[in-house]
Amino acid sequence: MSLLTKTGISSLQLCFYGAGSMAEAIVRGLTNEKLVAPERISMLNRQNKERLNELNERYGVQTIVQGSSNEDYLRGADIVFLMMKPKDAAEAIAAIKPLVSPKQLFISVIAGLSISAIEKLLGGEASVVRAMPNTSSTIGLGATGISYSPSVTHQQRTLTEAIFSSVGINAIVDESLQQAITGVSGSGPAYVYYFMESMIASAVELGLTQSAAKELVVQTVLGAAEMVRNTGEEPAELRRKVTSPNGTTQAAIELMDENRFTETISKAVHRSAERAGELGAAIERSITE
Ligand SMILES: NC(=O)c1ccc[n+]([C@@H]2O[C@H](COP(=O)([O-])OP(=O)(O)OC[C@H]3O[C@@H](n4cnc5c(N)ncnc54)[C@H](OP(=O)(O)O)[C@@H]3O)[C@@H](O)[C@H]2O)c1
Repeated sequence: MSLLTKTGISSLQLCFYGAGSMAEAIVRGLTNEKLVAPERISMLNRQNKERLNELNERYGVQTIVQGSSNEDYLRGADIVFLMMKPKDAAEAIAAIKPLVSPKQLFISVIAGLSISAIEKLLGGEASVVRAMPNTSSTIGLGATGISYSPSVTHQQRTLTEAIFSSVGINAIVDESLQQAITGVSGSGPAYVYYFMESMIASAVELGLTQSAAKELVVQTVLGAAEMVRNTGEEPAELRRKVTSPNGTTQAAIELMDENRFTETISKAVHRSAERAGELGAAIERSITE
């Protein structure tokens, strides 16, 4: 019997509280991988009925438009996904307090919202997963940092890891490292996009067409990432191998070093992690006020 079959995920009811882009990414992963039948998944939002119809047509999931009430979906779920924006989270989570029960698992992707804040909003100790996926989850190539509250059982952990594996890879970390996850893989895709923007602009300055520049840069980034993954070699080693003494790459890298490339990236990653902490603290304050 496979690990997944043992988790019994296919017999559970899943409710997505919030039906935006991250909720859709996870539902797409779950349904593509056939982990859960779509009729066992419900999705709800605040007001956008058109969006619910679209999700029903695309994935076959249940919504208030086709079936039961939102209250019934929330009450009947084995796993409730908390999928709203941080600004809406406190009000939305507090509103479901009368509907939830201690046997349910709560999986939150809300940036900055701590496990203890979620427990406070739900009215006491609960099985809570705090996850930080990234935008590449939408194409199944995400990287998700996952932390657990002490009451999450072994089986619930296996379930959670199966769920996020359907949209990419996972790193299980202590909750204190969630800010670091934000600085690295949460904000990370944008750093790479920024690097690609500069590469494309430089290629155009050197005379290439916009479309050729884009195609070359996309393939270069994709190829470099695949080289690291496929060869198992460290990026530093692969870099050394393509850097001939006094060659073109060395000339470029020397210029990057003179302009503090490593220091800039390091400061940026630290700043993103620090900002995640600031935003988290602001949410905590808004809950206790
Ligand atoms: N997108 C990413 O790459 C990414 C990465 C990591 C973490 N996250 C986290 O994922 C969460 C969701 O992000 P998103 O990009 O998916 O947001 P989004 O597209 O704006 O979706 C938010 C959803 O929450 C619903 N909602 C808000 N308040 C609600 C309430 N009181 N009751 C029921 N539904 C409510 C909204 O419904 P209406 O449309 O009807 O208002 C909407 O369906 C955020 O907390 C974000 O920090 C996102």
